[in-house]
Amino acid sequence: MKKIGIIGGSGLENITSLKFYGEEFIETPYGRPSCKYKIYKNSDVIVYSLSRHGDDHRFAPHQINYKANIYGFYQAGVQEILSFSAVGGINLNYKNGDLVLTDDAIDNTVRGNVTFYDRTGYVVHIDMSLPFCPSLRLKLKESADLCGIDLIDKGIYICTNGPRFETPAEIKMYRNWGADMVGMTLFPEVTLSKEMGICYANISLVTNAAAGVEENRKLTSDEVIEEAKRNTLKISKIIEQYLK
Ligand code: HPA
Repeated sequence: MKKIGIIGGSGLENITSLKFYGEEFIETPYGRPSCKYKIYKNSDVIVYSLSRHGDDHRFAPHQINYKANIYGFYQAGVQEILSFSAVGGINLNYKNGDLVLTDDAIDNTVRGNVTFYDRTGYVVHIDMSLPFCPSLRLKLKESADLCGIDLIDKGIYICTNGPRFETPAEIKMYRNWGADMVGMTLFPEVTLSKEMGICYANISLVTNAAAGVEENRKLTSDEVIEEAKRNTLKISKIIEQYLK
């Protein structure tokens, strides 16, 4: 039976078309994942869903045990991961509520020890020419189209360390680098998934204009979470269609 993983933020646990089957705590050699995996089933698919920030949004981006989260999926036998993230829009055409099917990314984090290949004497450089799984991206785009939900078909995500938001000057620089959107969690999630041979794709939800894009405006994490919640239904619909 096919096993699919979903990583999301708050409010993404309700995958209504599938039957909730229970929760599983998966202990890994890398420690504890952010929380228990919620399990959903139908006749030919099992879904393992994980809240990246844990229950009650308790882990900030730099505190997440990314290795445990991804290894937990691997131990469960998950072959593909659909990842969903909140981002700030850098691209001036983006507006709140836009969904972007990420096609490339820049790692600007300063996290250490974030590879499964950290054994001395065994050097592996994984290929990142295609950072996101092409077949999964295609299927997600088809699913969005089928349910009439606009999904921007490409965009470059820059990942910062967090947990603070960026300065306007940083955002200007990131735009010059070619980034369309900014978030704090894509790396090392995407690279660790690749290392484990798991097909990974990301849909980013624009929750706010990045710092300095709108003049004299402050940004709060509450508004990010509220905007994410307002758009949860669109994301669940894409997932439901994808699982049909
Ligand atoms: N910056 C970084 N991460 C984010 C943002 C942002 O503006 N919005 C949502 N996640």
